[in-house]
Amino acid sequence: MLQQMNLAGSFTLPGSLLSVNRMGYGAMQLAGKDGNKLVWGPPPDVDGAIALLQEAVESGVNHIDTSDFYGPHVTNQILRKALSPYRDGLVIVTKVGALRGEDGSWIPAFSPEELTDAVHSNLRNLGLDVLDVVNLRIMLNVHQPAEGSIEAPLTVLAELQQKGLIRHIGLSNVTRTQIAEARRIVPIVCVQNQYNLAHRSDDTLVADLAPDGIAYVPFFPLGGFSPLQSDTLSNVASRLNSTPMQVALAWLLQRSPNILVIPGTTSLQHLRENLQSAKLQIPAKELTVLEAMSNARH
Ligand SMILES: NC(=O)c1ccc[n+]([C@@H]2O[C@H](COP(=O)([O-])OP(=O)(O)OC[C@H]3O[C@@H](n4cnc5c(N)ncnc54)[C@H](OP(=O)(O)O)[C@@H]3O)[C@@H](O)[C@H]2O)c1
Repeated sequence: MLQQMNLAGSFTLPGSLLSVNRMGYGAMQLAGKDGNKLVWGPPPDVDGAIALLQEAVESGVNHIDTSDFYGPHVTNQILRKALSPYRDGLVIVTKVGALRGEDGSWIPAFSPEELTDAVHSNLRNLGLDVLDVVNLRIMLNVHQPAEGSIEAPLTVLAELQQKGLIRHIGLSNVTRTQIAEARRIVPIVCVQNQYNLAHRSDDTLVADLAPDGIAYVPFFPLGGFSPLQSDTLSNVASRLNSTPMQVALAWLLQRSPNILVIPGTTSLQHLRENLQSAKLQIPAKELTVLEAMSNARH
């Protein structure tokens, strides 16, 4: 039995009974790869993926991010195999709004039928009767937030919530205007946008969501498919006797109390390393040095 770690304290999603440790896990990269098709098909070592998820949860991770469009279906099926029956307090956050093309592409899927099918597909593949949190992943621009009303698809999700299939709703890849529009329709518990040491377009948004207790969950916290690489980061890490990825995660945790991290990894060693970052305190002097890494601040 592994020892439960202190994973950076807990955070309660607004208006909910869901409390999660701030150090979570992102399951996207547990799916495989087929040539240029990323997040596609089964991984080379399914048993290894199962063992990794089990160790994460044994270590105290109780917030796992996923989607049925990872694989597609593969990540959710592995999660179910590894962790079902799910322990009390484990919060699985999923997302809808896209389908996968045969070429591995990510296709917007926002019609009422597509959103309803996506919720049922997540329920089926995860083996759940109700989804704790569903993020509506906006696809007006696949790679970054783009303006446009999200009322129609969000209303569909709100109806599925009314039917008892979803407990809470979040948003992903959204602008400030879309968050405001959404909050007039339904309570929003979390926002998942791209954000890390080098990609800081949401600096003010993170702070603005904090007073209302809305969680900000950065995706690509370590840089995603091309993990962060920088001399500045490596130098700070070596002065703190830690690794660059630990500094990147500790920086996010220190940045604001409403940030929850969901680093992804397929490696047990990296998982252990990432969980340890919850204990790392970056001194003010080094925080100032890290500011130099930001290239997208507004
Ligand atoms: N809403 C969205 O649109 C969206 C988009 C992308 C992702 N997400 C969510 O965000 C989660 C996190 O994103 P992500 O997994 O793509 O990116 P990430 O967490 O930023 O980085 C993952 C990459 O970093 C490497 N890595 C992890 N820990 C490491 C360590 N200690 N040392 C060295 N390398 C390390 C991993 O490789 P190894 O496997 O070798 O460790 C992997 O290549 C996903 O799992 C997914 O749930 C959401």
